[in-house]
Parts: sequence; structure tokens; C-alpha cells
Amino acid sequence: MATYDLVVIGTGPGGYVCAVRASQLGMKVAVVEKNATLGGTCLNVGCMPSKALLHASEMFEEAGHSFAKMGVSVSAPKLDLPSMMNFKQQGIDGNVKGVEFLMKKNKIDVLKGSGKILGTGKVEVSADGKSQIVDTKSIVIATGSDIARLKGIEIDETRIVSSTGALSLDKVPGKLLIVGAGVIGLELGSVWHRLGAEVVVVEFLDRILPGMDGEIAKQFQRILEKQGFAFKLGAKVTGVDTSGKTLKATIEPAAGGAAETLEADVVLVAIGRVPYTDGLGLKEAGVALDNRGRVQIDPHFATSVKGVYAIGDVVAGPMLAHKAEDEGVAVAEIIAGQAGHVNYDVIPGVVYTTPEVSSVGKTEEELKQAGVAYTVGKFPFTANGRSKVNQTTDGFVKILADAKTDRVLGVHIIGREAGEMIHEAAVLMEFGGSAEDLARTCHAHPTRSEAIKEAALAVGKRAIHM
Ligand code: FAD
Ligand code: NAI
Repeated sequence: MATYDLVVIGTGPGGYVCAVRASQLGMKVAVVEKNATLGGTCLNVGCMPSKALLHASEMFEEAGHSFAKMGVSVSAPKLDLPSMMNFKQQGIDGNVKGVEFLMKKNKIDVLKGSGKILGTGKVEVSADGKSQIVDTKSIVIATGSDIARLKGIEIDETRIVSSTGALSLDKVPGKLLIVGAGVIGLELGSVWHRLGAEVVVVEFLDRILPGMDGEIAKQFQRILEKQGFAFKLGAKVTGVDTSGKTLKATIEPAAGGAAETLEADVVLVAIGRVPYTDGLGLKEAGVALDNRGRVQIDPHFATSVKGVYAIGDVVAGPMLAHKAEDEGVAVAEIIAGQAGHVNYDVIPGVVYTTPEVSSVGKTEEELKQAGVAYTVGKFPFTANGRSKVNQTTDGFVKILADAKTDRVLGVHIIGREAGEMIHEAAVLMEFGGSAEDLARTCHAHPTRSEAIKEAALAVGKRAIHM
């Protein structure tokens, strides 16, 4: 008799959510976690700490630059970085405790240690030189991802940092050089820029935020440049000299050509993340990986070994916490004999900067490439009443709809609160709704969400306020 119905390896958003859903479905469940705290990358060194610092640094920036124009007179704010880091830590602790509570509430055993798969139904858990073998009917691999490294550039997490070090700097760098204009580079660049750092971003491609709608990314770059960001696009960092008091980074054009040197106090390497499978014993157990080192799964999250499944950052797809969570729910339901499913066409993405950038569904570039005939409806926040009174008019809403059927295929927003606004589009798309459906839905006035309704009206060339 197996001790457990399910053992989940990893307690990030994929793993712990999977464990809770499985417990709800009547399974006896254990989670294995090698980190001292539960919650994975997201809670400990990812989503949560970065959002705490984004919030705190935004308040700092607002107090210094926006209060006076609203008639709120305060003296220039002073930065107390240790207190800001304490605020961040309180947020992490609160969320980690929340996951511990959920494990207790759902009667899920927490096995502290490193998990290794010995084959179908057997997991070895090792900690402090001791190990135990746990019998289980099913295993879910939810071991997440790790930072991608640049050849020849050693991350010491003090002067040359990954996102983890950039979340815990002990002083504001005079000059911060960021390698990679992706989500991490732009979010953490925003944090330190608001707190006083000069920020230069070096990006290999000729654009920022690859994968996001091109028109939105272009406008976002202009806004960030207005805020003070400097970008070097089509360039790569090939080395960092650490011998002097300041770092000297060698930058080369991506297409080849003369190199230049840029000085910086801190270099943040943010060039993506890679699946994490170290120590899991996958090769010996016969669990197949794809050509990018991700655990290979079929449409039902099953790996090449019977009874072993995988979800989250360690498998293909966007490396996002909510994608991992939804896969966790789906695989638990599948193991329980139900029809668990994730709709990969409707996974929102948000960049939590100011303004925020959010997106769901297809970009204009993807529709062009697929040869789909589409119509575009756009509405700027400069024409939205609420944004005007708040004087936060940067950005616009863009809706892409099928030219024949009017079905909404993609929605892209740049603007304040874009990350909250995107979900009405996600619900609409989940139900296969049209731009007309959105345009005929009453929206409260005055809200920023009215810009979505107006963009939907603009698909049919009948926006009212433009
Ligand atoms: P993880 O969260 O990585 O968890 C994996 C867990 O498995 C870890 O706790 C690890 O210790 C454990 N583990 C690994 N191997 C073993 C083993 N052999 N035995 C036992 N335990 C093991 N996503 C968003 O959606 N929104 C955001 O705002 C966001 N912000 C981010 C900011 C930063 C700075 C970073 C780095 C990432 C961010 N992400 C964000 C991405 C998000 O963190 C990941 O997509 C998400 O954490 C993936 O969840 P997961 O459960 O697959 O893996
Ligand atoms: P990313 O994939 O978003 O961006 C990496 C960038 O680095 C790309 O623009 C890429 O072209 C560039 N790059 C790669 N190699 C380079 C080189 N040698 N020189 C210069 N540029 C180079 O990866 P990032 O920002 O590291 O984030 C990792 C993951 O974490 C992402 O998949 C993201 O989904 C997730 N994340 C999500 C957040 C959110 O949802 N708000 C926040 C932070 C991270």
C-alpha cells in the first residue's frame, strides 16, 4: 500500500496549489521542499518581493514628484532602505506563512528535504545527511526554474547580481547596468531608478519586451526613456572587469563590430530563466527532457514515466506563477480522473511598472504571421475622463478582433492599473466573446476601464469620446 496518493516535489505556486486541489479531491498528499521556506521562487525571490519593492519605490517617487501638483505639500521624502527591505520581508513572511497554513488546513504533509525520483511510485527525500523513501501512487514534478547565466560573467550577488541579489541591494547603486530588457530588467530597473540609480539597459534584440505587442513595447520604451532609462538595443555584454572600484562592462553590437566599455556600480543579469531539474534523478528514472532541458510532457502533463507528471516553470510555456497554478489544478484533477484543462490561449501577462503593461491573447505580429485578417480598435487614456482628472494619461488600450467574426483575439494595454484591467478581456475571451459584446457591456463611470469599452467601440469605428 502506498503511503500517499500524491507526492508533489516543489512548493512554488505550481506545487502548493496542486497539493491543495488534490487534497480537496480526497487524495492523501505530501509536498517535498528543499528550501527553508515554502512558496518557491514566486513568494521568496520573485513575484512577491519584487512587487513589494515596486509598490514602496512607487510611493517614494510619488511623494517626491506627484504630491505637490495635487496640492499636497510635503518635504522631500528621505529613503530609509533598511526599512523598505523590512517592508518587503514582512510581505514575504506573510505569504509564506499563508502557504504553511494552507498545508495544515488541507492536511498535507510537508517533507523538508531534497526530492529524488527513484521510479514509478518512489521518491527519496534527503536532508541533513539522512534520507527516507516515500511510497506514492503519483508524483508531480514542480521544481520550477533558476536564473540563466552569461558565459564568462560570474554572478556574486553583490556587484554582479541576478534578480535575487537585485531584490536585496544594501545601497542604491549610482549606476546600474542591466543586461536584458525583459520583465525582470524593466521591473527591477524601475525600482532602483525610482530610488535614485542611473539605469542603462543593454538588450540583444532591437526592441524591448520580446513577445509583447510591438506597438505597445515601442510606446513603453518612449515612456521609460522619458522617465530617465537609457537603452542600448541590438547589443550584448561580453565581459565585466571586476578588478577596479567600479565595474567595467564590455558591450558589443549584436551584429558584430567595435566594442565599447560602460562603467557601473552594479550589473544585473536578467536574460531569462532555465528549468531546474538538478538532483531529481530524472535521467536514472527515465524521465525525458526536451531539447531545452524542460521536462517533456504530453497534453495531460504526463512525463515518459508512468505515474510521474510535471507542471510550471520546469515544463514548456510562459514562466508565470498563474500558469503554474492553473497547471497545478489541472493535473490534480486529471490524476483524480477528472477533465483538468488549461487554456493556453488566454493567459494574461503583466509588467508591474509605471505605467503597467498587460496583455492577453495574440499580438498584432502573431496575427500577421498567421495570416489572420483582423481589425484594430484603439483608445488613448488621454481621452478617458478618470485618467484626465488624475493626470495619469500615459498609454492606450488596443483590441484585436477577427475581421470576419468580430471575436476578440488579443487585448493589449499600457497604462496605470493595466494589470487589473486586463481580466475583463480574459473573461470575455474565455467565453469566445466579440468586440461588440464588450462594447455593449455597461462600464461604470468614471473608470479607467471605460477605455476598454471605447477601444471595443473603436473596433467598429464608433468610439464616442474620440
Ligand atoms: P518555483 O516557484 O520556482 O518553485 C519551485 C520549488 O521547487 C522551489 O521552492 C524549489 O526550492 C523547489 N525544488 C526544486 N527542486 C527540488 C527538489 N529536488 N526537491 C525539493 N524541492 C525542490 N511570475 C508572475 O506570474 N508574476 C510576477 O510578477 C512574477 N515576478 C517574478 C519576479 C522575479 C524576480 C522572478 C525571478 C520571477 C517572477 N515570476 C513572476 C515568475 C514566477 O516566479 C514563476 O513563474 C513561478 O514561481 C513558477 O512556479 P513553479 O511552482 O513552477 O516553481
Ligand atoms: P525575459 O525572457 O523576460 O527577458 C530576457 C531578455 O534578455 C530578452 O529581452 C532577451 O532578448 C534578452 N537577452 C538574452 N540574452 C541576452 C544577452 N546576452 N545580452 C543582452 N540581452 C539578452 O527574462 P527575464 O526578464 O530574466 O525574466 C525571466 C522570467 O521570469 C520571464 O519568463 C518572466 O515571465 C518571469 N517574470 C515575470 C514577471 C511578471 O510576470 N511580471 C516579472 C519577472 C519575471
